[in-house]
Amino acid sequence: MKLTSLLEKNLSGLRSYEPGRGKEKIREDYDIKEPVKLASNENPYGCSPRVRAGIEKEMSRLKEYPESMAEPLRRDLADFYDITPEEIIVGNGSDELIGLLVEMMGRNQGEIIYADPSFVKYRVYIQSKGCRGVAVPLDENYRHDLSAMKAKITEKIRLIFICDPNNPTGTLLTAAEITAFLREVPEHVLVVIDQAYHEYVTDPEYFSAVADRENWPNLLILRTFSKAYGLAGLRVGYGISSPEIIHYLTQLKDTFNSNRLAQAAACAALKDQQHIEDSRRKNNREKEYLYQKLEELKLDYQISQGNFVLIETSAASRKISKKLEEQGIIVKPGAALGLENTVRATVGSRSDNQKLLAALEKIVSGWNLAI
Ligand SMILES: Cc1ncc(COP(=O)(O)O)c(C=O)c1O
Repeated sequence: MKLTSLLEKNLSGLRSYEPGRGKEKIREDYDIKEPVKLASNENPYGCSPRVRAGIEKEMSRLKEYPESMAEPLRRDLADFYDITPEEIIVGNGSDELIGLLVEMMGRNQGEIIYADPSFVKYRVYIQSKGCRGVAVPLDENYRHDLSAMKAKITEKIRLIFICDPNNPTGTLLTAAEITAFLREVPEHVLVVIDQAYHEYVTDPEYFSAVADRENWPNLLILRTFSKAYGLAGLRVGYGISSPEIIHYLTQLKDTFNSNRLAQAAACAALKDQQHIEDSRRKNNREKEYLYQKLEELKLDYQISQGNFVLIETSAASRKISKKLEEQGIIVKPGAALGLENTVRATVGSRSDNQKLLAALEKIVSGWNLAI
């Protein structure tokens, strides 16, 4: 068999992740000077101003490999959460850790449960690493259906992903729901709660997880510096779990998975909690503004605990996204996320949001899409 035929045979079923289209492309395609990117749930206010000094200090050391275990950052995170560094692994984005978790638990026919629609990378890694996944649809309120997920647990299940708040729906599970679920999950199953949007959550019923972690030896929490911390471009995420689980996961990681600048930036960003509070406050204010204006446009949306809003459209999501792109606004078409007739828009700054709403208004009035 020809090599390319073999590759085609092995890989043709893969559906890879669709990253949001970049500003450059929109600039070129539509001759728009300042496109607005609301496709990847980045922080519109950027990172803490302290990050620059943190990075500059490292610039003279670029020839040196970084700390393989991201020791200073793990120590800072341990202090921040009042846990030990042995309970923390740093990844090249939490994305890398999702891949490692799939690899670790999917070995030797281990199977993996995840919700659908949820963060697309669970499915992408399960497929690309040749593992078997069990997708469990969200319930009618776009929330994880924990009882359906529990019903899918067999001897072969090794890993369950829970995305809380869920990307792309913004929905949240309560602490009571999650702890009841954890109580019933058998010991051979690792439960990963992906809290990429943790810093944005305001619901008091949220399962903040870290404080309670010791009660749950088969729990791993994923968080990231890509969202509220505004460091998506540097790629830093982390996992918190028992020292044993962290030890095994660490064995699978690349030796120098997290680079020198990223580690220094994350250390500096963590020390500026005022920036996180400000970002959360502005995100809440802008989310409320978006809700109100979407209602005026008679567009349905999902209340979100993240920094993004899922907007229902009565037309194909790719058509709507394209119409928005023509006006310089980049959003995520629901079709890429398993939710046709929706688009997911990051909550931007006031001027970003005004541009999004003006563009939506044009589409709604022109196409008579209002529900
Ligand atoms: C739910 C969720 N988990 C994980 C990630 C990955 O984040 P990163 O790899 O940038 O840390 C994202 C990014 O969009 C996400 O939405």
